[in-house]
Amino acid sequence: MQMEKYERWFLYATVALLVAFFVAVLASIGEAGIHLPTQVASIDPNKVSETPPFDDPGVFETGENTYDAVIIAQTWQFIPEEIRVPKGAEVTFIITSRDVIHGWLVPDTTMNAMIIPGQVTEVTYTFDEPGEYKFICHEFCGLANDQIGHHSMFGKVVVE
Ligand code: CUA
Repeated sequence: MQMEKYERWFLYATVALLVAFFVAVLASIGEAGIHLPTQVASIDPNKVSETPPFDDPGVFETGENTYDAVIIAQTWQFIPEEIRVPKGAEVTFIITSRDVIHGWLVPDTTMNAMIIPGQVTEVTYTFDEPGEYKFICHEFCGLANDQIGHHSMFGKVVVE
């Protein structure tokens, strides 16, 4: 009899905690407006090439040593594959996918994001040190026509 009573209380406590956590998640979404950190806009993934700024991918100076890098991800390449900026440049990468989910990882920086078809991802980074920064797709972006090319999907930022 005693054991059953304790068991029941543990069950109640478990359910109460689950409800509390669920309410906390809902409250954080509703009250704090929490969403994916890098998702800034929606786009029709079938019209990437006609939708600004993706109709003209590349690097654009936006201010004093600040740049926008507009990039399209697709199986299995980034367009463009090379970004050139001067030392100290603050670069905002504006990226979308034309087909499947890709990734955006630049080792030794704080940049690590998902590139999702239909969404625009933005990440900003200041390149204080000159050098070459490889960017790689770190989401397995699969098969097409029995070809595998995820491992060859990379490019680089050259900081001069
Ligand atoms: Cu794109 Cu892996």
